[in-house]
Amino acid sequence: MKHETTHSPASHVAVIMDGNGRWAASRRKPRSAGHVAGAAAARKVVEEARRVGVRTLTLYAFSSDNWQRPRREVMALMRLFRRYLLAETERCVANGIRLRIIGRRDRIAPELLLTIQGAEKRTAGGKDMLLRVAVDYSSRDVIARTAMAMKGTRDDRASFAAAMGEVDGTGEPVPDVDLLIRTGGEHRLSDFLLWECAYAELYFSTKAWPEFGPADLDEALAEFARRNRRFGAIPEVAAG
Ligand code: FPP
Repeated sequence: MKHETTHSPASHVAVIMDGNGRWAASRRKPRSAGHVAGAAAARKVVEEARRVGVRTLTLYAFSSDNWQRPRREVMALMRLFRRYLLAETERCVANGIRLRIIGRRDRIAPELLLTIQGAEKRTAGGKDMLLRVAVDYSSRDVIARTAMAMKGTRDDRASFAAAMGEVDGTGEPVPDVDLLIRTGGEHRLSDFLLWECAYAELYFSTKAWPEFGPADLDEALAEFARRNRRFGAIPEVAAG
């Protein structure tokens, strides 16, 4: 079913896909089944984001703190990322989607790293939407490493954002987030895009990520369109 939208969407939407584990537990399934269902939800949301004209979509797939999870769950997630990339790369090419992974690469297994590099190369020509997937990502880590790299220089915020892009793996300046969505009923940022979210509108959904569908993205974008963004200034008052 198509969901009609009448508003112009946020240019950069970022999503904290939370609640996979609880979704699975409530169905007496293993947590890994929740992540599989989460990957299917991600596919549909990516499709919808592209359809409505979102230019950049960043998905939080694995935080650097997620390494602390049981080894079995970490392995299952890494296997799932690889499967997702292998399955989605050609769909991305067909739909004009450029794929980039953000985060540390030095702790990623060689097989997954090769798949990441292959997917990025294969989709490099995508012009309709940039899909960024955060894996082994920590925003504090990116900011701290950028600050160290720029120590002693007298550069401005634009060059800091550019340097962050070098550190986060993409080599492109980090884009500001317009709309940050978090599912799963929690209200926190969890070390995700802290710099980029300086003026992001925050949207929280009580749905678990596997239940979050295209219509929910549309609803979040509609809510975003109703927000009055002032970026610290005061609203314009009509003269006279
Ligand atoms: C948070 O739910 C989700 C994750 C840590 C993994 C996110 C991964 C996916 C959605 C699948 C892969 C997707 C892509 C785009 C490659 P949780 O496990 O913290 O859930 P809980 O809070 O209910 O325990």
